[in-house]
Amino acid sequence: MRKITFTRYALAAAFVSGTAFSAHGYNMSVNDVEPDIDWNKVPVVEKTMFFPGLITYDWINSPEHKGTLNKDFKTKTCTHCHQGEEKAMGEMLIKHDRLDTMADKPSFIDVEFQFANDDENLYVKATWETQSPFPARMHDTLLFENGKWTVIGGDRGKNPYTPIYEDRFSVMIDDGSVDQFTQQGCWMSCHRGMRDIGQATKRDVLALDVIGFGGLNKKDVRKYLPDTRTERYGVNWDKVKTRDQIDQLKEGGKFVDLMQWRSTRSAPTGSADDGYVLEYRLSDAGTTVFTWNLDRTAGQPKYMYDKSVTGFYALNKADFTDLNMNIAMIEGVNTMSYDPSKIEDGQYLQGRLNRQGVGSAGDNSQVHSSWEDGKYTVVFTRKLDTGNPEDDKIMAVGGTYDFNIAIHDGQTTTRFHHVTFPFTVGIGDGATGDVVTTPVKSPIYDKHRGETQ
Ligand code: HEC
Repeated sequence: MRKITFTRYALAAAFVSGTAFSAHGYNMSVNDVEPDIDWNKVPVVEKTMFFPGLITYDWINSPEHKGTLNKDFKTKTCTHCHQGEEKAMGEMLIKHDRLDTMADKPSFIDVEFQFANDDENLYVKATWETQSPFPARMHDTLLFENGKWTVIGGDRGKNPYTPIYEDRFSVMIDDGSVDQFTQQGCWMSCHRGMRDIGQATKRDVLALDVIGFGGLNKKDVRKYLPDTRTERYGVNWDKVKTRDQIDQLKEGGKFVDLMQWRSTRSAPTGSADDGYVLEYRLSDAGTTVFTWNLDRTAGQPKYMYDKSVTGFYALNKADFTDLNMNIAMIEGVNTMSYDPSKIEDGQYLQGRLNRQGVGSAGDNSQVHSSWEDGKYTVVFTRKLDTGNPEDDKIMAVGGTYDFNIAIHDGQTTTRFHHVTFPFTVGIGDGATGDVVTTPVKSPIYDKHRGETQ
């Protein structure tokens, strides 16, 4: 199996020679993970992705949603009744939303997709015009001012005038195990009580079994599937099943896979995070691809940039948008221990560190991304069989899988994204699906044959 290694040497070379710009524009990843695919041979699938407002699973399945009056509602997908309505739906939902801090948010975005596969991988390529005026390469940021470090930044909802936040491209997959996911897709994971949708209080969440104090120790409600609640419909975020019941669901594969390309927290290492949704939005087992660069006890950063690799110890404000500079901090690659004597007042460090994922959490280590003329391109390579069925959906050539895709663009978070309706993807010639992937030869594998370790 091919393993991508982040050698200090290779990455140092990339930093020094300034390969951030390639013929394809600004390369978001420091290492080269772009599969050598002739995309001209792969059909373009255009999708309009829309702002879903406050539409939650309980609303979709309540009498307020006129669709439920249809006696076959349970067996129909959104597109059965709403085919081609994405744009109109986004326009209607945004009009009735409270978006005072995001007045210019588009109600929909047009995205070009291409889907390909080989024996080992699924490839999803997506291109969209971004609202961010530059690639979003900063997330939580550390500012040194008057001898003190503070965390600054925030998404556009919370910090409308000076947001510092990443953009995201998220893929949710099921293999038919989760009842209703084919029909209702990502709405299965979207409920009242979640952050920014009639938010449950910290105190109430901490008081919950399984989710709260003594369990996952969470302070808010994030994505979950209705199967994990004792009541399927209505407001049910607080009606959590027991740990044993939830563990059994997981063993039965009744979770959905959720992988997120993050323009700051994963793109620099050519990766996407790897998680799943069950009773909460959780990370796969192993080491995640990002962590904090903050020693909270000491109130200072863990690391600064290693000047011998990057040419600087810390950032100045203008560097945030200087595309001649690689400004990601990759643990152990271009970082060194924090030394206060090297930092000047008014300088910045990344609040988050990129690192190589390990185990199932590190499965998505071949996600190429670039930014050119105001457009992002993400080429998501996903092993069909990751070898980790306990928290991934395993795919195979000839199979059909349920997909839902979301884009958080313009430095936004939570529900302030654009989504597709759920759709099915068939893998390879002869497979069935709303989209069927085009077989290509195994370029990554061939290119690196001999380097395999
Ligand atoms: C069986 C048909 C059917 C299905 C399946 C269905 N809907 Fe609907 N939906 C309707 C009807 C009918 C309305 C009433 C408004 C209309 O005529 O468009 C509606 C209204 C809506 C509205 C509000 C728009 C408005 O004009 O009030 C939203 C949002 C919506 N549906 C989303 C969804 C989503 C998301 C799904 C899939 C999870 C879905 N619907 C599945 C039939 C359906």
